[in-house]
Amino acid sequence: MAGTFITFEGPDGAGKTSVLAALMPKLQAHLAKPVRLTREPGGAKLSEAIRELILDPANTEMDARTEALLYAASRRQHLAEVIRPALEAGEVVICDRFVDSSVAYQGAGRQIGEDAVLAMNQFATEGLTPVRTLYLDVPSQVGLARIEAHRQDRQYDRLDRESIAFHQRVRGAYLRLAEREPERIVTIDATKPLAQVVSDCLGTLHTVLSASWLA
Ligand SMILES: Nc1ncnc2c1ncn2[C@@H]1O[C@H](COP(=O)(O)OP(=O)(O)O)[C@@H](O)[C@H]1O
Ligand SMILES: [Mg+2]
Repeated sequence: MAGTFITFEGPDGAGKTSVLAALMPKLQAHLAKPVRLTREPGGAKLSEAIRELILDPANTEMDARTEALLYAASRRQHLAEVIRPALEAGEVVICDRFVDSSVAYQGAGRQIGEDAVLAMNQFATEGLTPVRTLYLDVPSQVGLARIEAHRQDRQYDRLDRESIAFHQRVRGAYLRLAEREPERIVTIDATKPLAQVVSDCLGTLHTVLSASWLA
């Protein structure tokens, strides 16, 4: 495909959304082609409806594999409606979370198996894999403390209610993924101040997009 697919990953509170908000205008200034920021469920109507089912605290009966299948279904529709057309049009597409999140949260967090979740997502994505993934790494306590400190802007959802052990399993899975796929996954130390993390991410993106980078 003509475009470039890049994802940002990391535990809750790592700073993905903050970094991307600061990064996008800087990145666009360096590139002549359009850069699109998206996040699951990506504004796709079906994806959003599925996401509401997943996050609704009332759905206490949800089975872990049901949850994993719903995430994959939501992802599939976002990919079909948003990501793939943008890549076909030659855009740089940056997605806040993708398959690695499911491997980490459902595979390891919910303990239904990282490889099984990956295989099921490969069906959903037809193997579409980001050319580079920036993994924003923070210890679980740091991420959770950041979220708690800013709790007033955010409601609790089903996943927020998980234990510290759940979040530690999630981070462990991310670290294993990064070790397993060092060419794709770049680990960024996200405990640093936001401006430094933004600058580190921009440096990594420069290496991926150097062919179309304006001075
Ligand atoms: N590098 C950083 N240092 C300190 N606080 C940060 C940093 N990055 C983000 N934050 C704060 O942490 C909280 C979670 O950040 P957010 O961008 O929503 O993370 P994510 O999207 O990865 O869950 C926000 O309140 C944000 O202001
Ligand atoms: Mg976020």
